[in-house]
Amino acid sequence: MAKRPASNSANNPTITPGKISAQPRFHQSAREIQQFGTVTSMQPLQLDEPVRLEMTEQLNLLLADTMTLRDLYKKSHWQVSGPTFYQLHLLFDKHYNEQSELVDTIAERIQLLGGISIAMAHDVAETTRIPRPPKGREEVPVQLSRLLDAHQIIIENVRGLAELANKLGDPGTNDLAVSNVLRTNELQVWFVSEHLVNEPLVEASDRGEAVKKSA
Ligand SMILES: [Fe+2]
Repeated sequence: MAKRPASNSANNPTITPGKISAQPRFHQSAREIQQFGTVTSMQPLQLDEPVRLEMTEQLNLLLADTMTLRDLYKKSHWQVSGPTFYQLHLLFDKHYNEQSELVDTIAERIQLLGGISIAMAHDVAETTRIPRPPKGREEVPVQLSRLLDAHQIIIENVRGLAELANKLGDPGTNDLAVSNVLRTNELQVWFVSEHLVNEPLVEASDRGEAVKKSA
């Protein structure tokens, strides 16, 4: 008669007979390993702790504003209506994706400086400097104005952050503020604001004058 193979627990003294050690441990909790608003020691970066503390605090404000603008673009993408629906639907989503990339870049700079990025909607809502929009749907000119007002808040603050980063000797944060955040926001402002120029859709406004002159 063939012998049964020896069980794992018989061969391995770390496995208790009758217990499954591969069992996932659910519902775990423990205290935080780093408190929000602190920075770890990051000696290889050669940036003093007070500088990293100031930069991470300012970057978190920028992060909250950028997450809010990102979400405002998605709200606009979903809720847009009217004759320009299709082009704005696409444009809003393009800007949403570009703002999403900025969110990740800003958040990861906070982490690499030894800080903690805000992440959750509640914290973003508490932190952002951009006013809360209504839950309902708004007309296109209002959507566009609201987006431009949000851009203006970010542009004003990011210029200040770039100057501060320069003054404190953190060119990495200065570069992120100017090359990534400022330039992206400036370009998006152009694309959005051109939609608020009151151009006729079908008939030229001075058509009558042009006909008189050619007669
Ligand atoms: Fe979509």
